[in-house]
Amino acid sequence: MQISPSNLSADFANLERELRRISNADWAHVDVMDGHFVPNLTLGLPVVEALAKVSPIPLDCHLMIDDPDRWAPQYAEAGGSSVTFHIEAAGDPRRVARDLRAAGARAGMAIKPGTAFAPYADLLPDLDMVLVMTVEPGFGGQSFMADQMPKVREVREAVRRHGGDIWVQVDGGVSADTIEQCAEAGADVFVAGSAVYGAQDAAAAVEELRALATAHRHG
Ligand code: DX5
Ligand code: ZN
Repeated sequence: MQISPSNLSADFANLERELRRISNADWAHVDVMDGHFVPNLTLGLPVVEALAKVSPIPLDCHLMIDDPDRWAPQYAEAGGSSVTFHIEAAGDPRRVARDLRAAGARAGMAIKPGTAFAPYADLLPDLDMVLVMTVEPGFGGQSFMADQMPKVREVREAVRRHGGDIWVQVDGGVSADTIEQCAEAGADVFVAGSAVYGAQDAAAAVEELRALATAHRHG
């Protein structure tokens, strides 16, 4: 069970220091927003490149951008160890996933709350992770959408049938109050922004989340 704290809730004026606060996490979740795919704009390639040089843990880049077909592989080249694109934005998602792997990254596909998984299940052979959004992408600190748990179960079942080392990630409103149901539904990678960076002791928050998820691991 892996924890990936989101830097969207971190102090953007001190991103390196904020990475050190979560050095006990498994991944550093980097929310890339272009102001088009989502109504918010955060950071891009130059910042990801700089963070990759100083981060004590690997970068998990979540691309909430238009045209990932063009840009996604460049995030892998910039140092993203895992790069996730949104299926709603991809022109040729299988090509994007293969380009990400060719660039040395784990390839992730994200699906918004209103998007069904079934039409894209045949992409699993080219994927290393499926991200089920548990909020509408664009902002941190939103309420957790429990109605996405059936989709997490559906993805977990498809991954089980397919076999292979494909991870199931959830992102949005994940906290000590909501992580258990995510784990029971089948998630094994957990993004948490405000629950970690809003805590006095971010490292302790990471440990608590990991312990709760592990105690409620799906069957
Ligand atoms: C939202 C981002 C999330 C967000 C999570 O679009 O993709 O990663 O930062 O923040 P919390 O955990 O506060 O909901
Ligand atoms: Zn995210």
